[in-house]
Amino acid sequence: MLAVAILAAGKGTRMHSNIPKVLQKIAGTTLLERVINCCRGLSPDKSLVIVGHQSKQIKESISSMKDIEFVTQEPQNGTGHAVQQLLPILKDFDGDILVLNGDVPLLSSSTILELLSSHRSRKADASILTARLPVPDGYGRVFSDHEGNVDRIIEDRDCTKEEKKNNLTNAGVYCFKWKKVKDVLQKLTSNNAQNEIYLTDSIQKLRTVIQIEVSDSNEVNGVNDKQQLSTCENLLQERLRTYWMKKGVKFISPNTSTISDKTRFGKDVTIEPSTHLRGENIIGDNCHLGPNSLIEDSELKANVSILYSVVKDSVIHENVQIGPFSHLRPGTNLMNDCKIGNFVEIKKSNLDENTKVNHLSYIGDCDIGKATNIGAGTITANYDGSKKHQTIIGKNCKTGANSVLVAPLKVGDGVTIGAGSTITQDIPNDSLAIERSRQITKKKNLSKD
Ligand code: UD1
Ligand code: CA
Repeated sequence: MLAVAILAAGKGTRMHSNIPKVLQKIAGTTLLERVINCCRGLSPDKSLVIVGHQSKQIKESISSMKDIEFVTQEPQNGTGHAVQQLLPILKDFDGDILVLNGDVPLLSSSTILELLSSHRSRKADASILTARLPVPDGYGRVFSDHEGNVDRIIEDRDCTKEEKKNNLTNAGVYCFKWKKVKDVLQKLTSNNAQNEIYLTDSIQKLRTVIQIEVSDSNEVNGVNDKQQLSTCENLLQERLRTYWMKKGVKFISPNTSTISDKTRFGKDVTIEPSTHLRGENIIGDNCHLGPNSLIEDSELKANVSILYSVVKDSVIHENVQIGPFSHLRPGTNLMNDCKIGNFVEIKKSNLDENTKVNHLSYIGDCDIGKATNIGAGTITANYDGSKKHQTIIGKNCKTGANSVLVAPLKVGDGVTIGAGSTITQDIPNDSLAIERSRQITKKKNLSKD
């Protein structure tokens, strides 16, 4: 039997933020979700998250994970006090409990698995993950013999000068035999520099405690402040880029681009400098992204190129060219071979194959047929001050430069609209519509009196 408990009740004071610490994100995913996800592979019988400070937001953030049980710690009196809250819940639970700090986001599933299997094969009362850090400041120091039997953990603030020199640190990831730790938890006191009940004090009260030193100390980076958050973000970005480069993605200047871990790439994708992918994206083969572009929650089919542009919540089909300086807002759907050019904004619109909006346009709430050319400066006036309205444009149309299409409006197939027109009435198929006053040209009187 296995229970997993994640500590997420702390105030996170050092973060200086209105957002709870465990809800800070790296590569688009919260620290808490990352810790939860890395335990998924263990298929625990019980998954518990201990909440307290800003518990409402934390519960909401993972409300879709139905297998998680929340336990409230009120007030937040330290990590040992947090685990004490499990006593009435786990009662006589007969198994192991994996306890993880909610602020250790880079931990890998394989490391946790290794901890659990060593713990079980060596029949320990407790097993902990440790790391040798060049700068161990802030971490609890682990004192153990050569065989890895742990004697005690002393918190940084409670260490003597001599003890601080020990750079074997506690990662905040523990595996306990519940039956053993249960008795010990009740005996913990808060006789320390922070007047808190430390989980780490349980170690010296247990008989056999082993430590497993991680091979990559980056995995156990704890996040207490914004600097550590940024360190973890950078490490994760590097991991993600390395992973995708090995799968065939080409980064021109890797350190200037960021990607979310929910982005998937096809083959031969090129990512130019300062290009960022956020949220969930699927990027098809041969796409060329950037430089200087932001793509969020979008699907790009093969051969799409995006230059100096922003694309959000959109679906872009094959061979589409976007940019420079286009803004595709949520609900944009571009079919094959469309071309979106300079200073064009599109929102909640479908453009069928081979349609072009090349210069200086706003296209909102539109449905546009195949092979239509939207002329420079064409604007769809979709908003009457209170409601948004639709514009439907057929196939093979041409809108003249600077035309304004006032919605709701239906333009048939094969229509041409004269430059500078303000169109307020529907136009049937194969028609020419012009709405503008006639030009007056007069001879200038150049005579001087
Ligand atoms: C803790 C460890 C330290 C270890 C380090 C690893 C203790 C006493 N110290 O220190 O040995 O090296 O992690 O990163 O455990 N929390 C609660 N309730 C509370 C207090 C904290 O749920 O009352 C949660 C926090 O939300 C956080 C986790 O426990 O996710 C760790 O707390 P934190 O204050 O960050 O501990 P550290 O000082 O980093
Ligand atoms: Ca911490």
